[in-house]
Amino acid sequence: MSSIARTAATGGNLDPSFFAWQTSLPFDRRLLPEDLEGSRAHVRGLLRAGLVTRDEADRLLAGLAELADEAAAGRLTLPDEEDVHMAVERCLRERLGPVADKLHTGRSRNDQVATDLALWSRRAVRALQAAIDDLLAAAERLAQRHGDVPMPAYTHRQVAIGVLAATWIDAALGRPLARDRRLLDAVLDELDECPLGAGAIAGTTLPLDREATAADLGFSRGPTNPMDAVGARDGALALVFACQRILSHLARFAADMVELCADGLWALDGAIACGSSMMPHKKNPDLFELVRGRAALGLGDLAALAALFHGLGTGYHRDLQYDKIVLFRAIDGTRDALAMITLSLGHVAPDADACRRALERGDAIATDLTELLVARGVPFREAYRRVGALVAAQRAKGARLVDLRADELTEAGFPAEAASLLDVAHAARRRAARWAG
Ligand code: ARG
Repeated sequence: MSSIARTAATGGNLDPSFFAWQTSLPFDRRLLPEDLEGSRAHVRGLLRAGLVTRDEADRLLAGLAELADEAAAGRLTLPDEEDVHMAVERCLRERLGPVADKLHTGRSRNDQVATDLALWSRRAVRALQAAIDDLLAAAERLAQRHGDVPMPAYTHRQVAIGVLAATWIDAALGRPLARDRRLLDAVLDELDECPLGAGAIAGTTLPLDREATAADLGFSRGPTNPMDAVGARDGALALVFACQRILSHLARFAADMVELCADGLWALDGAIACGSSMMPHKKNPDLFELVRGRAALGLGDLAALAALFHGLGTGYHRDLQYDKIVLFRAIDGTRDALAMITLSLGHVAPDADACRRALERGDAIATDLTELLVARGVPFREAYRRVGALVAAQRAKGARLVDLRADELTEAGFPAEAASLLDVAHAARRRAARWAG
């Protein structure tokens, strides 16, 4: 219940219930590896600045390395403290004695937590990019297996025009996730300034070389303005936005899948389909519905983080402590949703016959027929009306465009080539050929 971050000026001890409520240790312990990494770089900086001796630095570095090993092995129990930073310092004090009192020289938890967060976020970005790469590879394999199958593209939930499955897979996953991957590169750029050296709000008068420490930790530069560095959470906000964009793309693909399964055009295999507890015939697309639902929660995370940062004055405020809860949840949710969609791609397949029937039933060749007339010199609006009349006449008979015979098409003024469009798969391939390569 005690805290290192108190003096006579602060007053007596904290009320125990307030202490228990305000500690961030239950969630910021996840920053332990980054905190220890940042502290080791800080100790090397203290040595370079002559603020600790070689022997003191060696002892501090060894103590921090020991904590890192124990943490990695799951053997480290941290003492109750306000946060992970204080818990580490206290742990070190218990193990090393007075030399640990030099660890926090020229540093504040304000620049420390911002540094930990930047280190953690950079790792998270790389992990998300690797997860996107896995998904893109799975999408590519799916397109190789089934990409040639003609299927309906929908507008307004109705059959519009035939496309190849490869086009849909690329539109739903390939293109948007490749863009999200590039967005994450931009997020990495936002996270390329190391806050360490900014101190509490105005840096330090001690001769610490913040550029050298930044380089030591793999950043391009140190803090350029200490007031900005301790309060800036733009990298976290950009990262959560990127997560939400990824989740939205996955949710849209999931919505497509739910609809395509409902219409019998694509099917799941048992590995990713859930049953009903009552209805024995069910094979439900729960994986896709859960991804869509999880993406909705992610939207709340983005709003929560923006709200947390809104209206704070310049510099550090304790409100910022909660950024970690939202950030961790956003990253975990996005990583898991990416993994589940990647998994799903090995367990879905189109039903080519059902797709063909849907294209036929939906008169998907209407626009192709129209454009055939246009290519022969008929003004578009006239061609559009003529095909529309043909569709209406067929429907009045309970028939489809593909039920027309070749001679009926010729009689209606279509060129001989129109007969080939009665094969809806041919029509879809003919149209798709313009987008190949
Ligand atoms: N636990 C705090 C956080 O997560 C660390 C920084 C505390 N700084 C302070 N001035 N109380 O934001």
